Amino acid sequence: MTDYKQHAKYWRWDEFDNSEEYEFWASLAAKYGKNVLNAMCAVGESGAYLAHKGFRVTALDFETEMIAEGKRLYGAIPNLSYMQGDLRDLKLDSKVDFTYIASMDIHLLDSGDVTKALRCINRNTKVGGGLALEVWIAPHESFSSPQRIFHPRVPPTSGVYVWKESKSEYDAITKVQSIHQIVHVEAPEKTVFPHEVRLQLYDFNEMIDFARESGFALCRCYSSEKVETADESQVTYVEFVKTLDIEDI
Ligand SMILES: C[S@@+](CC[C@H](N)C(=O)[O-])C[C@H]1O[C@@H](n2cnc3c(N)ncnc32)[C@H](O)[C@@H]1O
Repeated sequence: MTDYKQHAKYWRWDEFDNSEEYEFWASLAAKYGKNVLNAMCAVGESGAYLAHKGFRVTALDFETEMIAEGKRLYGAIPNLSYMQGDLRDLKLDSKVDFTYIASMDIHLLDSGDVTKALRCINRNTKVGGGLALEVWIAPHESFSSPQRIFHPRVPPTSGVYVWKESKSEYDAITKVQSIHQIVHVEAPEKTVFPHEVRLQLYDFNEMIDFARESGFALCRCYSSEKVETADESQVTYVEFVKTLDIEDI
């Protein structure tokens, strides 16, 4: 699994205003209820936004370092609780109304793990509850993206300064996107580290099948502009509803 430990202290390396995206998650959550799981949350920035809006949010991440940094940044927000854990083996104290996985993080999981994760979400969601995933539907052609440098669009006021080099290639046979990053930390201390990300992409129908086998039925698809779409090649967000308890499948 891709290791995010080293990123935790610098996760908020760009203070770009993501509220338009967070409003979208909030609008989906509002259809289902107040109790929300922000899965694979990193430091839980979007979860903090939703908690601020009045949702009761559990922000879950595998890395203790991410959870510690999330608590440092947003721990004072009422209705936001952090949980370190593995989405493939999740046991919440009570069932949630809605879960979302942002940033195409579902693609950090291979197919066996996607099924495990969605089944765990099923067990921790009320019947009639929602699930939304940000996805990248597998393109049919291979491609590569040359080296690019990314500076923060809005540099943080916290004294952190990070820039990144990134190149990637996508293999249409394996449907794997390989991203090779070098993270340059200039402040508060100088350090450089590599970061390799492997995203396993899926066809639209594969994604829907994973969800169906995990007790979720397709509700709606949205484009990157968050507009409903029926064009599979445009799909960036998929919304599902829990129809069955996993034990009944
Ligand atoms: C790209 S980051 C998340 C970004 C986040 N969605 C955001 O909007 O800032 C991916 C995160 O997924 C977490 N992760 C990976 N596998 C996981 C798993 N099986 N269970 C829980 N968290 C996981 C990693 O620790 C990492 O923090």
